Amino acid sequence: MSLVFHNPVLLKEVLEYAALEKAQYILDGTLGGGGHARAILSDFPSIKLIGFDHDKEALEVAQNNLENFKGRAILVQQNFGEAKNVLAELGISQVDTILLDLGISSHQIDTAPRGFSFDKESSLDMRMNQSQEVNATSLVNSASEKTLAMIFKNFGEEPRAKRIASYIIREREKQKILTTTQLKILVKKACMTDDIKPVVRIFQALRIVVNKELENLSLFLKDVISLLRIGGRFLCISYHSLEDRAVKTFMRDNARSCVCPPHYPVCVCNTKAALSIITRKPITPHEDEIKNNRRSRSAKLRVCERIA
Ligand SMILES: C[S@@+](CC[C@H](N)C(=O)[O-])C[C@H]1O[C@@H](n2cnc3c(N)ncnc32)[C@H](O)[C@@H]1O
Repeated sequence: MSLVFHNPVLLKEVLEYAALEKAQYILDGTLGGGGHARAILSDFPSIKLIGFDHDKEALEVAQNNLENFKGRAILVQQNFGEAKNVLAELGISQVDTILLDLGISSHQIDTAPRGFSFDKESSLDMRMNQSQEVNATSLVNSASEKTLAMIFKNFGEEPRAKRIASYIIREREKQKILTTTQLKILVKKACMTDDIKPVVRIFQALRIVVNKELENLSLFLKDVISLLRIGGRFLCISYHSLEDRAVKTFMRDNARSCVCPPHYPVCVCNTKAALSIITRKPITPHEDEIKNNRRSRSAKLRVCERIA
């Protein structure tokens, strides 16, 4: 029996763009509940999948959901930034397809004690990997005002970052900030508004930093080309502009066939493009998908192919 954990986003599009007909190995860096993995393994019976998730609960659910594919799925509780080392230990140097479906799963958002949601009263946690030390409580109660303001501005794109940081510092001297509700109320008070948008941005910023989301993505992107066989594809679904920008820049930079300064009359760098971009513009969910799964609304899928 499959456990509903997370509705795989842009599933039809992933299956269409992954070019899996002749593929032998696929690396799924973000298993979640194994929704994408399950569809791939059942539609392509000769594929083997190596799946990663650093969340223990996600891995347990994925294991359950992929039980029928035991001999074809290797599931690892590990950061996808370690994929290259893990694959080397398995004796696999390259794969045909790489899939990243970034961010958090519905299960993580909906499970109150995980502390990701401002709608659910819980301790302020937000760790995807529950064995790591830093969580949102330690961050909010120990970071300096300057650091908090930088986090809110850079990772939440919050215009009132400084004001919120200074309010938090003042309030935490009176009482430690321990719960999602406490933080939600403080942010609203700092902004003197009942609008939920600043709360959304502050929660997003803390989540990104607690889980080192952009660092992990950038670590992984460094290995993507060497992990892909020539002709293999990399598909990445992102949910906020910071991730999408990193993926877009990575694909664009590696699809360049000349990096000479623009005023050079002829090319002297002899750079060869390593990637070809398959999706000039990101693919976004159709209205129907958004209607059925509101959480898919900010998804953007970008695809490229290794050519050299
Ligand atoms: C949006 S969900 C993936 C859902 C999945 N595609 C499905 O169909 O069920 C993202 C998952 O990636 C995991 N994740 C995020 N960053 C990770 C990282 N650096 N390493 C390993 N797993 C990560 C999260 O724990 C979460 O379970």
